[in-house]
Amino acid sequence: MERVELGRTGLMVSPAGLGCGGYSRLGMLKGGDEAAAEAVVRHALELDVNFFDTAPAYGTEEVVGRALAGRRDDVVISSKTMYRTRDGEYLSADDILKSIEQSLVRLKTDYIDVFSLHGVTDRHLDYCLENHLPLLEQQKALGKIRHLGITEHFMAEPEHDMLIRALEADCFDVAMVGFNFLNTSARDSVFRLALENNIGTQLMHAVRRALADADVLQGILVGLIETGEVDAAEINIDDPLDFVTSQEGVDSVTEAAYRYCRHEPGVSVVLTGTGSQDHLGQNVKAIMAQPLPVELKERLDTVFGRVRSVSGD
Ligand SMILES: NC(=O)c1ccc[n+]([C@@H]2O[C@H](COP(=O)([O-])OP(=O)(O)OC[C@H]3O[C@@H](n4cnc5c(N)ncnc54)[C@H](OP(=O)(O)O)[C@@H]3O)[C@@H](O)[C@H]2O)c1
Repeated sequence: MERVELGRTGLMVSPAGLGCGGYSRLGMLKGGDEAAAEAVVRHALELDVNFFDTAPAYGTEEVVGRALAGRRDDVVISSKTMYRTRDGEYLSADDILKSIEQSLVRLKTDYIDVFSLHGVTDRHLDYCLENHLPLLEQQKALGKIRHLGITEHFMAEPEHDMLIRALEADCFDVAMVGFNFLNTSARDSVFRLALENNIGTQLMHAVRRALADADVLQGILVGLIETGEVDAAEINIDDPLDFVTSQEGVDSVTEAAYRYCRHEPGVSVVLTGTGSQDHLGQNVKAIMAQPLPVELKERLDTVFGRVRSVSGD
């Protein structure tokens, strides 16, 4: 698989990355065991994926650490720290340092390539920049972290309030952003800033729930028609993506979703989250495929281009 540069980090990464969180957590959230989850990570290596995103919150760092053992030099690992407790208290300096040390142990490594603050929302950004960022910079100077990143909470902020301000402040080398053909709001904000400042991006939510489950999609579309973000005359509500699946050369909605994201200017790595080796194979193939036919991309942009209120969750 080809490699692309992850913005100004200079890291060379596969355009397809394995997301070890989301609704799948390598299958562990759907009842899969750790052995099966490890097999998914190893299958990603076989497919020449070299980018792996995990986090303490996902409970998959140990699995990733075991599956990547012996391949450390060949891979780029992204992990994170929470910035608040479940009760809403900000993490202290000690908490953050402990979180980093524990991630290093679980991942069986002495450095993490991309280390991000996890799921920051707009009203917490200033606190994180003032209090947590300097700690991460210290850890970077010690070599425990190679590059600093930040991830957004796309469901809470489908117009990227926090991420836009974080990129304008320009203190992170990598940003994780939500984007899919249902909500393309990052195009004129996050991706523009990322391109201007050469910030690497990890894309999440390419498929998520709405584009993997027809019932979820239908429910979301009913709401979007009500808000006026989607014109009922543009779709067949009983089978809203019939124009995608009937397109010659496109086999499935998920394939179209990953292909749509991969070719968006400003996108470095498209994460795919799955517990299925078969899905992983299909998704990597889709991410590495040609752009969607122009007429299909234009139709998607016409139908969904005004959507700003949902993340596809
Ligand atoms: N704020 C944050 O930091 C944050 C938030 C969300 C996500 N993330 C990261 O982003 C990654 C990707 O996000 P995501 O979980 O939303 O992943 P996604 O790739 O957008 O969606 C994955 C969902 O679609 C299903 N799926 C995948 N391929 C399929 C296929 N070929 N056919 C049918 N269903 C398919 C998966 O279920 P199966 O297991 O059945 O395939 C899973 O439930 C996460 O793993 C995580 O690393 C970060």
